[in-house]
Amino acid sequence: MSKGSLDCKMVSQHLACTVLGATLFGDAFLGWSEATIYEELLMMIAKDACFWASYSVTPIWNQGFWRYQYLCTKLKSLTQDIIQQCRQNYKLFCQMDQNPHHETRNTVGGAASAASHSANVVTPDNIFLQEFDDHVNAREPCGNIMSVMFHGYLTTAGLIGNVLARLATNPEIQDKIHSEIIMVRKGSLGQDQQSVKQMLFLLATLYESARLLPAGPLLQRCSLKHDFNLKTGVMIPAGAILVVPVQLVQMDDSSWGSDANQFNPYRFLSKAEKKSNIVNVMPFAEERVDLGQGTYVLNDPNENAAFIPFGSGTRACLGQKFVILGVATLFASLLEHYEIRLQSGSENDPKPMMNQLLPNPKIVFVKRDS
Ligand code: HEM
Repeated sequence: MSKGSLDCKMVSQHLACTVLGATLFGDAFLGWSEATIYEELLMMIAKDACFWASYSVTPIWNQGFWRYQYLCTKLKSLTQDIIQQCRQNYKLFCQMDQNPHHETRNTVGGAASAASHSANVVTPDNIFLQEFDDHVNAREPCGNIMSVMFHGYLTTAGLIGNVLARLATNPEIQDKIHSEIIMVRKGSLGQDQQSVKQMLFLLATLYESARLLPAGPLLQRCSLKHDFNLKTGVMIPAGAILVVPVQLVQMDDSSWGSDANQFNPYRFLSKAEKKSNIVNVMPFAEERVDLGQGTYVLNDPNENAAFIPFGSGTRACLGQKFVILGVATLFASLLEHYEIRLQSGSENDPKPMMNQLLPNPKIVFVKRDS
């Protein structure tokens, strides 16, 4: 690999682990000496988990299985370790936050006045920790946290890697997003999460990346007890597994138009005047962005039933909003200061990585002039 160039997949995995770890454990994760080992273990386990889960009988005769079990035990113990550190940080925070005038913190009035008094220290981080402590006391988070990390790690890494590759191969789109970031940042006084909701072209780019290359290739549904009749008249017998090929659905011309296989974030945006009568359920849908060709609003991607990277219905992904906002925040910070380019020499390659299931180009981060 040439100097300064990075493996897109490795970078994405590292970023995904940091985003998830920092969200779940706050500062404790960022300063944690075992974070690298945790990430490596997570990667090894996440890669093998489906394989070992595919056995209907636990393969106790297989040495590889016992190695896998050992890794899982190690990951569990590290998870307990970071939870413990998180609790200590939380206690420290409570001690720092204690104030002789606010000893009635647990009462409604006390909580309100403590919040207003310490408004500059109540971050999403410590709000999470407070809830987290309640769950820790209920002794249940370790398994839940590990499940979120397993599921979220490779899926989030897939989305980040996909977006990195799209931006590196579409510099004109990257430039537009960069202008949007600068414009929105100027108008918002550092309230990151809020301002990301105004970066409609960035959000549209995430949706388009998730459409063209969903992290999970298949969705499955099974009606265990009753036969199920589709509107088309087709009957699915009880117990049969219905498999939805996500990528095929998301690239189907009949739902997405003749450019279904092209990367086109504009498909998630509508000219503002056309949208004026439409009630949109997305919290940021009423924001507008001027992309030089008129003002746009962001469509709710879920309005199109063929948009299913996060599944659909009652069992749809619970992390969808968190992931979209988390990854958008990541890219808003990254693109504000860096340009993502393909490793020099590979520019004339006609986007070969986009024909593979998992894009993995070599990329370079070039610092922007401030
Ligand atoms: C880009 C990242 C992610 C993608 C593409 C993704 C995708 C999915 C998909 C396709 C499903 C199955 C939905 C269905 O069958 O209809 C799912 C389920 C789920 N996801 Fe995600 N996910 C991501 C990240 C996350 C994260 C970070 C979390 C947690 C914070 C999360 C929590 C869940 C949960 C709890 C379920 C199970 C929901 C249920 O069965 O009721 N996901 N996800």
